[in-house]
Amino acid sequence: MSATTADDFDVVILGGGSGGYACALRSAELGLRVALVEKAELGGTCLHRGCIPTKALLHAAEVADTARESEKFGVRTTFESIDMAQVMAYKSGVVARLHKGLQGLVTAAKIEYVTGEGRLDGPRTVAVGDRRLTGRHVVLATGSYARTLPGLDIGGRIMTSDEALRLDHVPARVVVLGGGVIGVEFASVFRSFGAEVTVVEALPRLVAAEDEAVSKQLERAFRRRKIGVRTGAPFAAATQDGDVVTVRLESGDTIEADLLLVAVGRGPSTAGLGYEEAGVVVERGFVPTDERLNTNVAGVRAVGDIVPGLQLAHRGFAQGIFVAEDIAGLSPAVIDEVTIPRVTYCDPEIASVGLTEAQARDRHGEVATYEYNLGGNGKSQILGTQGFVKVVRRADGPVVGIHMVGARMGEQVGEAQLIVGWDAFPEDVAAFVHAHPTQNESLGEAHLALAGKPLHAHS
Ligand code: NAI
Repeated sequence: MSATTADDFDVVILGGGSGGYACALRSAELGLRVALVEKAELGGTCLHRGCIPTKALLHAAEVADTARESEKFGVRTTFESIDMAQVMAYKSGVVARLHKGLQGLVTAAKIEYVTGEGRLDGPRTVAVGDRRLTGRHVVLATGSYARTLPGLDIGGRIMTSDEALRLDHVPARVVVLGGGVIGVEFASVFRSFGAEVTVVEALPRLVAAEDEAVSKQLERAFRRRKIGVRTGAPFAAATQDGDVVTVRLESGDTIEADLLLVAVGRGPSTAGLGYEEAGVVVERGFVPTDERLNTNVAGVRAVGDIVPGLQLAHRGFAQGIFVAEDIAGLSPAVIDEVTIPRVTYCDPEIASVGLTEAQARDRHGEVATYEYNLGGNGKSQILGTQGFVKVVRRADGPVVGIHMVGARMGEQVGEAQLIVGWDAFPEDVAAFVHAHPTQNESLGEAHLALAGKPLHAHS
């Protein structure tokens, strides 16, 4: 077979992360001939440097806290220490098993998996080494990288999440720069592992994209956990000297630490990949698309973190599947970004979907809200967690946002997204019987209260 025929595909996908591999698998299921190009490891950031390994660390953190606090439950244990080598081995084991499973899926789907650094070479071609893969459609799915700030070089004691996931010890003092999602998750891990932690955030609150009530509750919980929170505190500079990194804030304050974790956002990986040369519009590094994920160049789509919007693996999966189905002519419905759920796995966990109260007021004018305190929820009392479920509805209208905080509340996001996604009224949800005693019940109770028939609700 000649190289030309062998390298002709229906879909050529550049990048084997969440967006890219989901697109490849769905395309193959639909009978399309697919090439998937990946320069590092199949699974991308989510599997190797993001969602999965960080959640493994957060689980180890939860185990440490459980051991430490076990006497509260009448169970005597002695918390000795964190064995970082074993924590990392556990984390790597989880990643390795999922990686193997994913490789099996790609092989079984008969996807042409090409290892190497690909580059867009004209609108329908991806060049990898001396191979030229040509597709009726090309999908750009090159993901994102951990950003830093100008003048703040990564190295030594200054790390991003990439390096922090390979630590061989627990640092005694950590400054986390950025109180967004990555910042609060790592702050939570380091604190549970025994470090002294300070989070430095330029904005007036942590997790600023969340509902304000959630930020307040998280800050309270972090303070109780003795995590230092410096909000409204723009970073100025950091210097390393021997064993110490000194962080200076714009206010002139300095904080010394053993490690500075930089978590100031993730930038789109689009530079040097031939996108602009092929005519694809790139704006501030991102690839803008229409709602069907078409770029400005016919036949070229984009999915995942390079497309402006939420940088979440499950958004990438959904976009990859959408593009495959669109290419196959199934005319899938456009993805509604507002109903994409968001979970932050710090302790306490945060889960939300839809509009914050402020966004809902901006968009809809009059709204009604109800905050159900987990103090009235049996299972949350059993676990010993505090928090709430906040429901935002349009005045006499459907629920447009749900915001939850508390241990394990991430698991409740599924029902919350159905409520928001299906424009349910609190009265509709109140009619469903929620299992007792579960944390899920707190969602039911919040809607009961909003429907005017509260059960275990004070005020
Ligand atoms: P982020 O955008 O969530 O937070 C970065 C924070 O750094 C912001 O609050 C910003 O105000 C702050 N910052 C920036 N410059 C600063 C300065 N000079 N001084 C002080 N503070 C400064 O970005 P993050 O946390 O790095 O996460 C990147 C992406 O990864 C997010 O879009 C997130 O959605 C995704 N992610 C999602 C997770 C999840 O769903 N559980 C977990 C981890 C990451």
